[in-house]
Amino acid sequence: MTITTAVFDAYGTLFDVTAAAREAAAEPGRTALADNWPALAAHWRTKQLQYTWLRAVTGDHTDFWSVTCDGLDWALEATGLAGDTDLRDRLLQLYRELTAYPEVPDMLAQLKSMGIATAILSNGSTEMLDAAVRSAGIGDRLDAVLSVDSVGIFKPAAAVYDLVGACFGCERQEVLFVSSNGWDACCAAAYGFTTAWVNRAGEPTDRLPGQPMHQLPDLTCIPQFAEPGYGKFHNL
Ligand code: LAC
Repeated sequence: MTITTAVFDAYGTLFDVTAAAREAAAEPGRTALADNWPALAAHWRTKQLQYTWLRAVTGDHTDFWSVTCDGLDWALEATGLAGDTDLRDRLLQLYRELTAYPEVPDMLAQLKSMGIATAILSNGSTEMLDAAVRSAGIGDRLDAVLSVDSVGIFKPAAAVYDLVGACFGCERQEVLFVSSNGWDACCAAAYGFTTAWVNRAGEPTDRLPGQPMHQLPDLTCIPQFAEPGYGKFHNL
């Protein structure tokens, strides 16, 4: 089926979630973070995601900013940095303006020039997503920024993926859904989206129902997958 709409996960897919810890560690006076920023970033991301899944299961929803703060507090304690409130504030400030991967602006512009509708579909709160999109300067390359805020549950609940059809009035297979999260790519594929998994770290495939149609190391080739007739399974 022809792809009409390209939809992107935000955190880890368009925006580099390790950038906040990495950039803070490079600032003067951050010696405590210099050695263990990769551990802090990994703990932060893992806990943030775990808390979204657990809150989706228990029905105890809160917004993604709260989950992000909770994950950071766990990570700071795990890495022996819990008392540093200045560092905590700085990391959260950097997270609001996360660096986009370098290929993002051109890739989105290319999709737009092909007549493909573009959107973000993210666990992020509307306010967080607006700040990140503004800071990356990609607002004019996106037709919609869809947040789970409007459904009150996190991915991979089907109610979140339903937001795409509700916004664009398209069939599931017409959607090229792009995520760097293996679990998100599998669940979106099971939902019925044509799915691309951006596997930058060369991770193993998640053992979940649904498998992504495409696998690639970065976002550069995404427009190729939206070309008419490009419907087969591809690993780049
Ligand atoms: C998001 C998280 C899952 O942007 O990365 O939805």
